[in-house]
Amino acid sequence: MCGIVGYAGSESAAKVVYDGLKKLEYRGYDSAGIAVMNFGRIEVIKSVGRVEKLEKYAHILEGNVAIGHTRWATHGKPSTANAHPHSAGGITIVHNGIIENYAELKQKLVSEGEIFLSETDSEVIVRLIAKFYEGNLLNAVIKCAELLKGSYALLAICEGKNEIVAARYRSPVIIGLGDGCNFCASDEPALAGKCKHVCVLEDGDFAVLTADEVKICDSLGKEIKRQVWLNTAEPAALSLGGYPHFMIKELWEAPSTVKNTVSAFRQREEQIKDALSGVDKIILTGCGTAYHAALVGKRYFEELAGVEATVEYAGELRYNTPIISGHIVLIAVTQSGETADTVEAARLFKNLGAKVFAVTNSLHSEITRIADVVVPVAAGSEICVAATKSYSGQVSALYLLALQLSEKEVAKELLTELYGAPDLISQTLQDIDVYALAEMCARASGVYFLGRGIDYAVALEGSLKLKEISYLAGGGYPASELKHGTLALIDNKTLSAFIITDPDLAAKSANAVEQTISRGGMVAVITSLPEVQSQFAHRAEVVKLPECGKYLSPFASAAALQYLAYRTAVTLNRDPDKPRNLAKSVTVE
Ligand code: G6P
Repeated sequence: MCGIVGYAGSESAAKVVYDGLKKLEYRGYDSAGIAVMNFGRIEVIKSVGRVEKLEKYAHILEGNVAIGHTRWATHGKPSTANAHPHSAGGITIVHNGIIENYAELKQKLVSEGEIFLSETDSEVIVRLIAKFYEGNLLNAVIKCAELLKGSYALLAICEGKNEIVAARYRSPVIIGLGDGCNFCASDEPALAGKCKHVCVLEDGDFAVLTADEVKICDSLGKEIKRQVWLNTAEPAALSLGGYPHFMIKELWEAPSTVKNTVSAFRQREEQIKDALSGVDKIILTGCGTAYHAALVGKRYFEELAGVEATVEYAGELRYNTPIISGHIVLIAVTQSGETADTVEAARLFKNLGAKVFAVTNSLHSEITRIADVVVPVAAGSEICVAATKSYSGQVSALYLLALQLSEKEVAKELLTELYGAPDLISQTLQDIDVYALAEMCARASGVYFLGRGIDYAVALEGSLKLKEISYLAGGGYPASELKHGTLALIDNKTLSAFIITDPDLAAKSANAVEQTISRGGMVAVITSLPEVQSQFAHRAEVVKLPECGKYLSPFASAAALQYLAYRTAVTLNRDPDKPRNLAKSVTVE
């Protein structure tokens, strides 16, 4: 949610920052801007819309120190005035986060004669730093930070100084350590191929970066050391590699994600097993697609391992009053590891003394610093805002966790089944025909996804994906709930898509299909069961999935629905990679 990049070195800083911002666009694309230090003076360029609008200016601006920002608007509409960087009194900043007490701070500054030029919460930061500046930028940033409530990843530069001061609280900042140059950014992809090593700022850290040095310190200015890691971000993951969109490229990477997640799990199996020993209750949490993976995970824990499991939206859970009793484990599922609600829910449970597991694709993220145990999802960079391969990775990690708790012999069999998941996804994507169904979705006035049991969990994911990238109204419901409300919405313009993969519940779902057909609604049946395919042939749009066991079915059915959403977005000429109003990493509330 908002991407920030900074660079100090000998190259054209505007170009380096521009390249970095392009790679962070999934964090927001309402507006973008860059500030460059040119012979001691700061020059700023900004534009509404995507980062590429800055390209021609980035090639002209000279200077070796720069900061930049790609925005997901929180306070103030997308406009040039609200675009970052913001400047005042020789200071320029970019900010990711939300300053919750900005109104109060702004009122005070206005009463002191300050004139604000934007509607953003961030402008108070630059005006406070300018007010406190007495020749030392770090000191002024520290003084400003003392007054801020909320979250910030902040970069500041000051006229006449070839340095960047960074500050972090509850929003990510990663530092790239180069040879004669140094970087800072919201996320690792901005540093792909730029430097050998990285380190991560922690809450309350400040850093001063020049071309030759990075100094990290606390709020007293006392130097601190942070662990240095190899920079593993891969430039190749950031290119389309011949695909028209990241979404379809990443969907096709789901099979290798599952394979790699299984291998990564293996390497930590002993630690995970020990940490799970004696657990009698599991709470799973996450947001968006991660929450949907958690819903599948609940089935695995209860049905494969016999351990009680509940699932809560992280944004709700973080404000609950949980009762921690017995051997309870919280499993936080998050691709980015930085989603504010998921991170705070994990922090709450940790503080209450519960054991916290993080199922995450980002091994240097905030969630990994909170969790007792990190369960890796090996999806590599996921650029498309709509999650695809990370879902398959999360589901496989949860499956593996459940197997740790199930009986030895059963676990052995189920593990062998999981080895078939990559081929199952590939086969689904190769054979599936959703062109006609995508056309039906594009024409429908509402699209409802329905299923029972594990198919209901997948229905929710199918509905979210379609909403996210096609902007079509609808929802995901248990098929059993159809007659309790949704049926009233059915007419010849609405489309109901039933997911049916569980043989035990197929007849029940088939009843709901019949009821919808009887009421004249458009109907699709997405199924791996041959008998269901024949039952509805010629009466509904039937999409065939490969035959597979119940517990593996989400790999096939979710891939099919993600692909359906992709085809529908393309049919409607929407950009599946950058849906309107959304961002990939939701680091604010
Ligand atoms: C946003 C993204 C979704 C993602 C969700 C949770 O809404 O657009 O694709 O599923 O955040 O993100 P996380 O990084 O915690 O998995």
